[in-house]
Parts: sequence; structure tokens; C-alpha cells
Amino acid sequence: MKLTRYFFLLIALIVANNLKAQRQWVIFPQPNEIITNEQSYELNGKIRCVPNEEEKLAIAVMQPQFTLFHELTFKEVTADSVQDLRFYYQPRLQKENYQLEITARGITIKYGDRNGLIYALQTLDQLMDDQSKVVEMNGLQIIDYPRFAYRGVHLDCSRHFFTIPEIKAFLDQLSALKFNTFHWHLTDDQGWRLEIKQYPKLTEIGAWRDSTVIGHYSRSPREYDHIRYGGFYTQDEAREIVRYAAERGITVMPEIELPGHARAALAAYPEMGCTGEQLPVEGLWGVFDDVFCTQPETIQFLKDILAEVIAIFPSETIHVGGDECPKTRWDVCPKCQKVRTEQGLHDSHELQSYVIREMEAFLNDNGRKLMGWDEILEGGLAENAQVMSWRGTEGGIAAAKMHHPVVMTPGSHCYFDHYQSTNPSEPLAIGGYTPLEKVYAFEPIPEGLKVDEQTYILGAQANIWTEYLPDMKSVQYNTFPRLVAMSQVLWTVDKPQYSSFISRMAIDYLPRLYEQEITYSTAFLDPTITLNPTESGLNYSFQSNVGSIWVNGNSENTLKLNRTPAPQFITAFVESDYRDEISRELNFEFVTHPLIGKPVHFITPPSKSYNHHDSLGLTDGVQGTTPWKGSQWLGFSYDTIQFSIDLGEITVFNHFQAGFLEDQGSWIYYPKTLIIETSTDGKKFKQHKAYDINKKVVNWEKKCKAKVVRFTVINVSKIPQGKPGAGNTPWTFIDEIMIY
Ligand code: ACM
Ligand code: ZN
Repeated sequence: MKLTRYFFLLIALIVANNLKAQRQWVIFPQPNEIITNEQSYELNGKIRCVPNEEEKLAIAVMQPQFTLFHELTFKEVTADSVQDLRFYYQPRLQKENYQLEITARGITIKYGDRNGLIYALQTLDQLMDDQSKVVEMNGLQIIDYPRFAYRGVHLDCSRHFFTIPEIKAFLDQLSALKFNTFHWHLTDDQGWRLEIKQYPKLTEIGAWRDSTVIGHYSRSPREYDHIRYGGFYTQDEAREIVRYAAERGITVMPEIELPGHARAALAAYPEMGCTGEQLPVEGLWGVFDDVFCTQPETIQFLKDILAEVIAIFPSETIHVGGDECPKTRWDVCPKCQKVRTEQGLHDSHELQSYVIREMEAFLNDNGRKLMGWDEILEGGLAENAQVMSWRGTEGGIAAAKMHHPVVMTPGSHCYFDHYQSTNPSEPLAIGGYTPLEKVYAFEPIPEGLKVDEQTYILGAQANIWTEYLPDMKSVQYNTFPRLVAMSQVLWTVDKPQYSSFISRMAIDYLPRLYEQEITYSTAFLDPTITLNPTESGLNYSFQSNVGSIWVNGNSENTLKLNRTPAPQFITAFVESDYRDEISRELNFEFVTHPLIGKPVHFITPPSKSYNHHDSLGLTDGVQGTTPWKGSQWLGFSYDTIQFSIDLGEITVFNHFQAGFLEDQGSWIYYPKTLIIETSTDGKKFKQHKAYDINKKVVNWEKKCKAKVVRFTVINVSKIPQGKPGAGNTPWTFIDEIMIY
């Protein structure tokens, strides 16, 4: 065991040394053009320069980073003294471009605007070896520019509240990775976070909820914590964030959600809803029927709010939400129906479009542009609207074809509230599975656009929704290193292979985060797992390309799971080849039972997206967990599902168990009926029982003799009216079939 450890350590040292030899390539995001030269330049404790006012500001912004990482101090000197760094302001350089050169005579930076200047200094910081007063810099020339003009990060401060210092520290991380837009999600059902002077109750009442749901919102029965929770930003504090961000090359784009996700505002001003009913600020996550009414009084209320918002935020674009607005109240509201008739609108989708057009007219009259989630396409897109495509890429494609600017943020690749690992011990998340590799592979320009239409794709954005991220540490865990991958996607035209990216990121970028006490996930070290059935059960093999694996402290990387019933707790530890502190621990709880490793024959196969371990998925010893993590469970999208298990020989058993999942928000329903049939020859089947299921675990106790057991699982054919996904076929999720 010891020897293998040393062997890997040696390999790690060789890898690290090789990378060190090419240090100039190790910048995140990777610059677009680097030409090395044979010269070098040495800095000793100071970076002497003659900055103008703009450069002084940039230096002040960057000084803490240079102190922390290099113990280097920018020192202003007179024009006739020796200078280490020379700035050249070149207004003809394109927006955000910069050039950085290192020769024996020193460092030069050329820039055309603030972002270019900040980015040049960010690159300079990453070019240096960490933590040494004397920095020997290899000669090079970098010519750098972003692939996309819009490089955004969104943070939901409604579901959970983050303080001004926390947001500033978050902005520091965005700037380091050359993101230029902070999409600040300030209002939602669970809390209104921005002071509006004309409507003080928005924060007096709307910023506070009495209770928050505990655990995943799909859990049944639900429990609440009964703890008052909230907070808000004063206008002065919001201005402070705008200023702080601007100094770092970041535009703050505020989002005021309308007409849906309005429960916090309606708790403060119920008369702005359709029913006038006094409802609390919501403590549950989801989509709610009570939304802003479309009556003239509410339209004016929303314009008054936007008037204060544009006075705080200089951003050219203001985000007005527009997503997930149920039309239930509007359909029966006399005030909304009056507006619909007066405006000559056909249905409630056009009513939503009417609200967005009203907001757009107001913003345009005030010299601003509107952006909304892709639902603003429904019922007709407002004249100059910009679209943020989140429900896949379709909305973005449609808007670009109509020559409207688009930001791509499809849930599949850009939602950082999703799981980044399928491991059962991951912290709770909303659902989905968006590992680092998937983010890295993201292509913001969707297929199906002509070259001229592609120019409407401004860029992309990572979205950090915080229902399940109660504090900054959990935000960081979900953000890093996925945001490093996203920065490569948005900045670098020809990005390196994923394998090269992760090794360089682990060696050179994660230590920077560590140094700044930023939490990150090492889920990218998760081993691949292959299953091989054996005579006595199942072998689990753990493989890693990036480190060595220890299973329960043993360097043996195969786990033998046999059929003797007993629970087993397994810890797999991946010790990365990169650095000691970059490791990963996974915890599994196996249930062993006599069906372990028996392949299941699917008469109706599971969906391609939810077929974890295929024919062994139902007998792999790992029970599906709730909430689900995009794996473990096998998902079927038919109303009748059939599969059978061949036990190999005639077997006597007296206990059968099957697990099911329900998460109606994700269209997953408990099935209605389960039919169990047994056969001793695989031809003639005897039906035992048809169960009414509707629950998580089905247990059946009866002495039976069978060689083949066949299961028929029946669900309703359509999701009932009034539920999310009504009218579609529900999903049926099944995991672990056991007999004893
Ligand atoms: C969204 O995720 N509802 C935009
Ligand atoms: Zn109404």
C-alpha cells in the first residue's frame, strides 16, 4: 500500500513539474493567443509603475490579490524612474481586449477600456508563481479577447439572502474569471430584497417569511422550520454593489420578477393581485397561482418600481423575469378579463405578453432594454426584448431567428443548483445532474441557426438558484469549479481538451480558491463504476484516470457484493494525482439480497436518460434515494411497464419488496397497480396479486416457488389537470427489486 502511494506521488511530482515548465499556459480562462519568447523579467517585492487615474483604480482593486498570492505591492513611481510595468491606453483596441507582454525590459499592458485593463492584471496575477516575493517571469506576449460579449453569473438572493460582504467576495471571483455580468435575482415568492421608497411594505413585509420548508420540497409529509427568515438591501447598499462590481468590470443586471413569482410583493400589497386575498410570504419552493393582476393599478405599481430600479442600476438591460406565470387567476379575474377585452387579446398568454410589452415600453422610454426568461415568447415577443433561454435551447433559437438578442442558459448545462455527482452522499440539491465535464462541453451557439442568426447569441450564463443553498459555503460548493469550466466556454475560442483542463485547474486554480477559503467540489474526481455479475453476486469496479482509489482503506479497487442479506457501508476514497488536498470521498450504503447481480429482462425498456446500470440497475444493491439525484432510479415513460427476472433455478421465496418514487413537480408519479406473476418454466405464469401501490415501498409476503418472476407496473396514462405537466404521460421511477 505504501509503495503504490509513493509511486503515485512521484508521478504527481513529475506532472506538476512539467506543468510548471509551461506556467505561462496556466491561466483561467485560457488566453486566446500566447507567444513565448526566450527572455525573462524578475520582480522583487514591488511592481513599480506610473499609473493614470483609471489605472490607479484598477491597481487598488487588484492589490489584495497580489498581496495574498505573491506578497507583491504596486508602487507608484515618477515617470523618470525605473518601471516594472508600463500601461498603454489604446482606445482603438476592441472592448474588453488586452495585450500583455513580458520581455527583459519589463511588463507592458495595452488596453482600450476598464475591462481590458482589469483582465490584463488578472492574467498577470495568474502568470506568477504563487507566494514568493521574488517572481521570475518568463517572456511572452498575450493577445487576448473574449469569445462572447455576454458572460454572466446569476445569483438568487430571494430564496436565501446573502450579505453585502458575501456578494462582494462573490464578485471578486467573477472578475478573476473574466465574467462581465452579475444577474442579481432580487425578488421572488419567498422574499423581496430591494428597498423601494414609494412602496416601503415591499421590504417591511415582503422581505420576511415566517417559516421555510425543511428538506426537499417534494418530501411528503412536508415539515417547516417555523423560523422567521429574511433581509433586504437598501438602495445605498445596492448602489455600493453596483460601484464595487463596476470597478471590477462587471455590470449588475437586476431582476424584478413579474408577473409571476410575486408572492412576496403580494404579501405586502395584496391589492396588486387578482383576488386581493392576504397571503403570507411563501415558505415553500415552487410555482404559485397568485401572481400580479394585469389591472391598470398593478401595471402602474410595477412601472413605479422599475423607475426606482433604473435610478439605482445603470445597466442598459433590466431583467423582468416573465417565467413560470400560471394563468389560473387571470382566467377568472374580471379585472384581467376587462383588460383582455379592451386590448383585443385572445387569451391569457397574450395577456402576459401585454404586461411585458407595457414594461418594455416604459424601459425603452427611459433609455433601457428589457430582458426576460424564454416564456416571454409565449403570446408574442415584445418589440425589442432580449431573451434568456432556460427551458432548453428552443426559446433561444426562436428568438435569434426573429433577430432578438439571446443569452443561453439551458438548465441542462447552466443550472448550478443541479447535482454535480450522482453519489448518494452529495448534499441536497434541487435535482438534475450537471457534472463539470458537461459544463465544459457546453456550446452556447445552439444548432439550427444560420450564420447571421448566430450573431444574436450574445453569450451564456451560469444560474445559481438557492432554494437548497442556504449559505455562501453551499453556494461556493455548487459554483466551483463549474464556474471555471464556464469561464473557458465563454472566453476561450479554442478550449483545451477536458482532461488537460481538469489537471491544470486542479493544480493551478483550486489552490487559489483554497487560499481564499472558497469551498469547491471535487466531484470531478468521482471514479467510473462498472458492474460485473458473478456466481455469487456482483463485482463493483472503481476506475479513475486522475488518481488512486482506496475502498474501505484498501488499495483493492474492486468490491465484491454477494447475495447474503446484510447492509454494507462502503467508503471509496480517490487520492488525486494532482495535490494531496484535492481528494474525494464517496459513501455508499448497499443492501444485499438474493437478487443481487441478477439481470432484469425489460419487456418495456427504461428511458435512455434514466437507465442507470441498465439491466443491473434494479438489482445493483443500491436503493434509489429521495430526493432523487438523476441516477439510481430507473425511469419509464409508459403507462404500462413490464419486466421479468430469471432466478436461474426454481427458488423458494417468501418476501418481495419494490421501491417507487414520487415527485409530482418533476412529473414523477407513484404507479397505481403492480401485478406479480411467477412461473417455474418461463412459459406458463401464475398471477398472484394485483396491488394498489401509491406508496414508496411495496412489501409482499407469501411463500412462492418460481424460476421466473414477471412484474407489470401500471400508472395513469395522463398527469391529472391542475398538476405540473398536466396531460403528459407521467414518469414511473422504480428502484431495487428484492426477494428474500
Ligand atoms: C427559471 O429557472 N424559472 C428561470
Ligand atoms: Zn387580475
